[in-house]
Amino acid sequence: MEIKAIRGMNDILPDEMPRWRLLEETTREVFARYGFSEVRPPVLERTELFFRGIGDETDVVEKQMYTFTDKSGTSVTLRPEATACVLRAVIEHGLLNKDPIQKLYTLGPMFRYERPQKGRYRQFHQINAERLGEESPLADAETLAMAYDLAGTLLGRDSLSMEVNSLGCKECRPGFKDALRSFLVSRQERLCEDCRRRMNTNPLRVLDCKVISCKDAVQGAPVLETFLCAGCSTYHEAVLASLEALGVSYSKNPLLVRGLDYYTRTTFEITASGLGSQNAVSGGGRYDDLLSILGGPNVGGIGFAFGMERLILLMEERQHPVKGCFVVAQAFPEVETKALSLISELRSAHIRAEAAFGKSFKAQMRRADKAKYPLCIILGEDEIQRNTLTVKDMATAEQYTVERAVAVHELKALLAGKE
Ligand code: HAM
Repeated sequence: MEIKAIRGMNDILPDEMPRWRLLEETTREVFARYGFSEVRPPVLERTELFFRGIGDETDVVEKQMYTFTDKSGTSVTLRPEATACVLRAVIEHGLLNKDPIQKLYTLGPMFRYERPQKGRYRQFHQINAERLGEESPLADAETLAMAYDLAGTLLGRDSLSMEVNSLGCKECRPGFKDALRSFLVSRQERLCEDCRRRMNTNPLRVLDCKVISCKDAVQGAPVLETFLCAGCSTYHEAVLASLEALGVSYSKNPLLVRGLDYYTRTTFEITASGLGSQNAVSGGGRYDDLLSILGGPNVGGIGFAFGMERLILLMEERQHPVKGCFVVAQAFPEVETKALSLISELRSAHIRAEAAFGKSFKAQMRRADKAKYPLCIILGEDEIQRNTLTVKDMATAEQYTVERAVAVHELKALLAGKE
C-alpha cells in the first residue's frame, strides 16, 4: 500500500523552492540591516520548556503539542513555536553575559496539532525574531517596524494591516483580570467547557477562544486599555509615537490578545488580504518576565514570528528566469562531444548550463523551452564546421551566430544584459 505524508504536513516540491529561497534570502537581507544574527535551536525540546514558557492553559500547550516519551523516559515535544527555544539557548549559553543586547532570528519548522485548512498546517515554518535586553518603547517600535519592513518588501504595503495593543504588566493586569472574571461569570452558561475553567484561572485566554459561542459571549467585555497603569500607558503612547516617526501605518486594537501567555505590554499582529480566515501573517510582542520564568536573568525582550506558508501563498509568482543556457546538440557523436566540452567550459566560467542527452533534437528543444533559461545554444554539424555557435534568445526568438573561440565571453555579456 502507498505510504502518504501525514495530514497537515506538506512536501515542498522543486517548483515551489524558488519562492521559498526568495523568502529566506529576503528575510536574511532585511534582518541583517537591523543587526540581527541567525541561531538554530533543535526542533525537539523538553516538554517542560513549553509548559513553563507558553503557559499550560493555552490552546497550544493544552491541545496542540506533539509530545511523547523518548527511550530514556523523558517527555519531549516537537516545538510548537520558537521563542521559548531561542530563550532557552540564550540562557544555556550565557549569551547575555557576552553581550547584554541580543538580536536573534531563526527559520524552521514548528508543529501544532491543529485542524488543517488553507494557511493552517500541522507542520509549518516560521521566521522568528527575538530582541533581548532593551527595555525601551523605541526598541519595540523598531521591532514592529522590522516585521512591517519584511512584510512590505515581500507583499507590498497595500495588502497589509498592523494592529497594536498593550497587554499591561504584572502591576495592572490583575485588576483587569478581576473585572474580566466578573464579566465572564455573568455569561458563563454561554462559554465552552474549557473557558468555564479558564475563566477562573486565566480569564484572558477566554478572549482568545475560537469557539463561536465564546466569541459571542465576550462581546462588550472590559478592555485592558482602561486598566493600564501609568507606566504601561506612557510606554504604549511612546511606542505608537515612534511607529508614526518610523512611517509604519498601524491601527489600535484594544481587543487584541495573543494566544500565548508570556506577553506583557506591546503586542501586535499583521494581517494580509487574500488568505481567507487564516489571515495573520505575523504576530508577536514584548515579554518582560519570560527569561526569568525560564531560569534566566531578569531581562525583557520582544519578538515576532511570521508563518512562512502564509507568506508563500501570498507572494506573487516572481519567477525570475534563472540565468543560464540550455545546450541543444544534434545527435552526432562529434557534435555531442563538443557540446559536452562547451557545457563544462561554461560551468567553469560560473555560467549555469544544462543539456538533455539521448533525446531527439525536437525533444531537446522542448526541454529548452521548459527549462526557462534565457538563452539556448544550438550546436549542429554546420556550427562545428564553421567553429561557431547559434544562440537563441528564448524571450524574443532572435538568433545570433557567435564565434566559438569567444563564446564564453559573449554569452556572459548576453546573460548580464538579461538582468
Ligand atoms: P503565533 O501567533 O502563535 O506566535 O504564530 C506566529 C505566526 O505563525 C502566525 O501569525 C501564523 O502566520 C503562523 N502560524 C501559527 N500557527 C500556524 C499553523 N498551524 N499553520 C501555519 N502557520 C501558522 C508565535 O508563535 C510566537 N512565538 C511569536 C513571537 C515571537 N512572539 C514573540 N516572539
